[in-house]
Parts: sequence; C-alpha cells; structure tokens
Amino acid sequence: MEHKRKVVYTLVLLLTLSLQAMGNHMKITKAVVPAAGLGTRFLPYTKAIPKEMLPILEKPSIQLIVEEGIASGITEFDIIANADKPELEHHFSHNERLETILEDKGKLDLIESINTIIDTVQFNFIPQPEPLGLGHAVLQAKNAIGDEYFGIFLPDEIMIGDVPALAQLIAVAEKYNASVIGVLEVPHEKVSSYGIVAIKEELEDGVFEIDHLVEKPKLDQAPSNYALAGRYVLSPRIFASLENTKPGAGNEIQLTDGISNMMHNGERVIAYVMKTNRYDVGTPLGWIQANIEVAMHHPKFGPVVKELCEKLLRYSYKL
Ligand code: UTP
Repeated sequence: MEHKRKVVYTLVLLLTLSLQAMGNHMKITKAVVPAAGLGTRFLPYTKAIPKEMLPILEKPSIQLIVEEGIASGITEFDIIANADKPELEHHFSHNERLETILEDKGKLDLIESINTIIDTVQFNFIPQPEPLGLGHAVLQAKNAIGDEYFGIFLPDEIMIGDVPALAQLIAVAEKYNASVIGVLEVPHEKVSSYGIVAIKEELEDGVFEIDHLVEKPKLDQAPSNYALAGRYVLSPRIFASLENTKPGAGNEIQLTDGISNMMHNGERVIAYVMKTNRYDVGTPLGWIQANIEVAMHHPKFGPVVKELCEKLLRYSYKL
C-alpha cells in the first residue's frame, strides 16, 4: 500500500513538473553584446578608442545599451570584446581610486549611474579571436548562454522610445514562444545595406511570420523594406546553426544566415516592427543625431539645445 502511494505520488509530481514545463514562460535574463568589430565607418576616431565608448552626452553609448537591457529584465551581459578594447571592461568595473577622490569631494553621485549598474548585473567579457563577422561573434557566447533564449544588442544601434526596444521583443517572444527579430522600415534605396525580411503573413499589427531573410539584397531583389535593426531574441539553437554556417556576404559568418539555417531546421522566427527611434551611432551622422535627440530630452540641457538649434536654423552665413 505504501509502495503504491509512493508510485502515485511520483507520477503526480512528474505530471505537475511536465505541465509546468509545457506552460513554462521563457524567461530571458541574458544578452550578448557583440563589440569586437573594427569600427571602420568611424575612423580615425576608432583607431585608438572603441566606438562603443563614443559619448552620448555624458555616457558612453554602450552604457545606454546596458541600461536598455536592465530596463528589459537582463541581468547578465556577455560582451564580445577583444583585449585591444580594455576600455569596455574598465567602464563596467569599479575604479576605487576615482571613487575615493570623489567621495572626499562629496561628488560620488557623478558616477552613481554606472556604479549602480556594476553592482546590479553581471558582465562577462568574451574575446573573439578574429573579426570573422557578427555571426561568429555571437557564437563566442555559446557556453555563457547555455540552453536559454537570450537577447542580442548591436551596440552601435541606439534605440530611444517609451518602451525599451528589447522589452518589446521579449513580450512578443513570450507571447508566441518563438525567436523574434526586431525590424524597422527603411527607405527602399537603402535596403542593400541591411538584412531584409520576406514576409509570409501579418499575425497582428507589426508582427509578421517570416518567409525568409536576405542579407544585403540588390534594390530590385529586396522582398520588402523591413530591415533587421540591431535587436534580437533568439533560441539557443542559433549556436548549432552558426557552427554550420559558411562565410557569406563580405566573407564573414553572418548572423542573418545563421538565423535562416535555424528556420530551415524548424525554429519559428517572427519579425516585430519596434516602436522606437533608432540611431546608428557607428557613423558620425547617426552619432550626432543621437546626441541631439538625447540632449533635447535632457531636463537640464533640453531647453538650451532647442534654443541653439532654432538659432542655428535661422542663421544664414554669408561666405
Ligand atoms: P558592424 O559591421 O556594424 O560594426 O557590426 P563594425 O565592423 O565594428 O563597424 P564598421 O562596419 O567597420 O564601421 C555590427 C556589430 O557587430 C560587431 C561590431 O562590433 C558591431 O557592434 N562585430 C562585427 C563583432 O563583434 N565582430 C565581428 O567580427 C563583426
């Protein structure tokens, strides 16, 4: 009798656990930040300083990325960066000497935003032996991510909006229990610079079932003007796909090709049109635009910057 009760108890336990697993909500707490590129579009600045350390007002742009991640529930950041970019690791580590000096002056608040980040979340710095492409960079995080869905931030894409861009993707991933790639509409003449989505079906406003992806299509071959735009939530199955992905455009291992392979192998991937302003701070123009928008929203600088912009627009220089 006792034995029978134990068997029934074990069966009930197993059933409960499997029901929990079936209804299990994916919980996304890890994100990969590939930052091992060369930053050639921002030379000569990037000769000695990583573009991820370009300031957006008083913060390096990678700090805005991490802030977006934290606001989206990320607690572990796996940053792909080589030894020639030690600045990134320095920024996300305490600087005791500076802290002592600032404390003595009563000015510790000046580094409060970064110190709070350092004390709240975990950072892993993972090298990419050679810059063999974005897909190859993501692959370096395989062991750190393990068997979980995870986020990816391209750190040169700064998103500014009411709801953090990655949080928007996570909500869609949880709803559809699928991988999600963030897209934005781009002008037709720009499609050749991006990975572009071919749409199978619109599931709801701004949420699309994908037919396939094309990396940097020719203008007359682009299946849409929805471009991949620097935010992803992906299944850990991407790592096996990337291991089997041959170098593609630019002779680099492309993340887009890895995602395509993963779709061929049965992973559902959805495209979501993010509600955000986006700036490519990997170029001087995108960087200055991001600074203007952030400055305009800044409580202290906003009014001054708006006044300056209005004044400059009224100017007409006589050369
Ligand atoms: P990009 O092509 O935009 O960045 O790659 P890049 O190569 O640094 O810059 P340019 O084109 O020469 O100006 C998108 C992201 O992927 C990372 C980059 O650091 C960037 O954040 N990346 C790219 C890697 O980490 N490793 C690579 O091999 C390639």
